[in-house]
Amino acid sequence: LNYPLLPGQGAFLEQALRNVSEEAWDTALQLPPYQGPEELRQCGADWLSLPEYPLKSDRVVIATGGHHALMVALMASGMVGQTIATDELTYGGLIAMAKLLDIHLTPCAGDSDGMLPSALQEVRRDATVKGLYLMPTVHNPLGTVMPLRRRAELIAIAREHGLLIFEDDAYGFLEAEAPPNFAHLAPEIAFYIYSLSKPLAPGVRTAFLVLPSEYFVRATEALRLSASGAVPLLGNVTARWLQDGTAALWIATKRREAKRRQGIARGLLAGTNLSGHPTSYHVWLTLPERLPAADLVETLKARGVSIVGASAYSVPPNEAPNAVRLSLGGEMEEERLIRGLSEVAAIVNAL
Ligand SMILES: Cc1ncc(COP(=O)(O)O)c(C=O)c1O
Repeated sequence: LNYPLLPGQGAFLEQALRNVSEEAWDTALQLPPYQGPEELRQCGADWLSLPEYPLKSDRVVIATGGHHALMVALMASGMVGQTIATDELTYGGLIAMAKLLDIHLTPCAGDSDGMLPSALQEVRRDATVKGLYLMPTVHNPLGTVMPLRRRAELIAIAREHGLLIFEDDAYGFLEAEAPPNFAHLAPEIAFYIYSLSKPLAPGVRTAFLVLPSEYFVRATEALRLSASGAVPLLGNVTARWLQDGTAALWIATKRREAKRRQGIARGLLAGTNLSGHPTSYHVWLTLPERLPAADLVETLKARGVSIVGASAYSVPPNEAPNAVRLSLGGEMEEERLIRGLSEVAAIVNAL
């Protein structure tokens, strides 16, 4: 976990369950429509619409969290057995999922704006490349945000060569000025995953999956066969939080708290090669050559501090860079966060 729950969120759940209407209690116990209840799909469409890019509920389905939505998208789009282009460093969950689904990943180099169009052009010469997995807004683990122009360049290549795009927006909510997402910009080829695990709480197990209309039927079939639909009760509560301002309040608080924690990390690790998004819960620490990432991970583990080496995010055949990701949100207690970061700083600075 690299994002915190806020104190008192549980009390909101208790209150929300007290407010569930009598009618909703009955529906809560029934099998939901496999694509998700219409009210929740509409709520997702409203939540994810921008004035210039309105979304309709007929492109939104409900999955049981981000992993589930991603798996449904990959299965429904026919990616099993195919090749997907990714960033050189990408989400470890996607790497594991690809292994499970027999999907080959091919890494593309990037810069501070994200994947390089020239790198995508290069890998797509391989005819088995059928898709593109991206985290363009607050990348995990690097924290980068892809500007609109880069998004447009990648879309142009994807359109030209018939690639589908899979945007995983697990952390986009942390960026107040996020550009339009790929489902806004390229609705006919983009699958977009918006999990509520991080903006709200992991226990709600709810994600919106926006997809190109032509994949609706296959996605509904994947939802039916993988989970028989999402849990209606939590969907109902979640929709209320999105509509009544609770979600917006939590998101604003999480951004503020992340900014504060970034300040703590940057202070304690001053002088090191640290990067990260200013309102996110992870930082990327590039290490000097004489301190191999695996050694740092082991040394810290022995001292009770858990960090993740770059190898967990690195797509073969590339070698992992000598770097680690530090999570600023896994520890609720600030004192423990400071202790952990101080341990890292002590080792890195002792070199
Ligand atoms: C990039 C990314 N995608 C998906 C997930 C999984 O989301 P969920 O907990 O909703 O399944 C995570 C969780 O850490 C993540 O970082």
